[in-house]
Amino acid sequence: MAAEPTPQAPAQAHAQAPASASASAPKPDVLAAFEAAKGFMPVSEGLALYTAAVEAGRLGLPLLEVGTYCGRSTILLADAARAAGVTAVTVDHHRGSEEQQPGWEYHDPETVDPEIGRMDTLPLFRRTLHKAGLEDHVIALVGRSPQAARLWSSPLGLVFIDGGHTDEHATADYEGWAPHVAEGGLLVIHDVFPDPADEFTGQAPYRVYLRALESGAFTEVSVTDSLRVLCRTGHGS
Ligand SMILES: C[S@@+](CC[C@H](N)C(=O)[O-])C[C@H]1O[C@@H](n2cnc3c(N)ncnc32)[C@H](O)[C@@H]1O
Repeated sequence: MAAEPTPQAPAQAHAQAPASASASAPKPDVLAAFEAAKGFMPVSEGLALYTAAVEAGRLGLPLLEVGTYCGRSTILLADAARAAGVTAVTVDHHRGSEEQQPGWEYHDPETVDPEIGRMDTLPLFRRTLHKAGLEDHVIALVGRSPQAARLWSSPLGLVFIDGGHTDEHATADYEGWAPHVAEGGLLVIHDVFPDPADEFTGQAPYRVYLRALESGAFTEVSVTDSLRVLCRTGHGS
């Protein structure tokens, strides 16, 4: 699928990937809110995500995340969106990924709604965002990522893929959202583990990352642990 036209696109027909995005750091209160939030993303990757979000914010387009969980990474996108005068959009059904279900390594009993006995991270996410003072800069879409993607039709400055880690989910996230990354916009993929010995939830994000590079539409900008930042420098996905 072809990338959508970008209203505020850079002047050149084919965007150049930034040679190395200059690092932008969140203010101490934002970093403290990120560190206090429930979630799995380490600070090193959070800082790389923030740098990407600030860079992408320059396009004047929304920043979209797949995989809200309790809002840890959303805080960083929201703060970058606030600075750029754009909106962060975050998509999650809030019922947790496979590895977060009861009995699995990444399960947190505090995420279970005792009345229905299923995970519900939406209240925790809302609390996180409220405490960080960032509610006004985020739209939360509650539902399945492919369903939301089917309704989406406008360009995005950044797509951050951190949803389900099975091939089915990661592929659907890529196919649903990557086509909306504007020229010069960024595609960020989390939990990319090239060495199977390093991975813990499967290598689907790595396969999606390879697919993005092989498409010729994306060029790598940065690698920070398992976080990969790619820039749209061509058409397709
Ligand atoms: C690894 S967590 C996200 C972590 C979050 N980005 C952070 O840094 O704290 C993955 C999230 O993706 C959500 N998820 C998994 N598959 C999904 C799907 N198909 N549609 C929407 N959300 C999904 C889960 O509910 C879970 O909250």
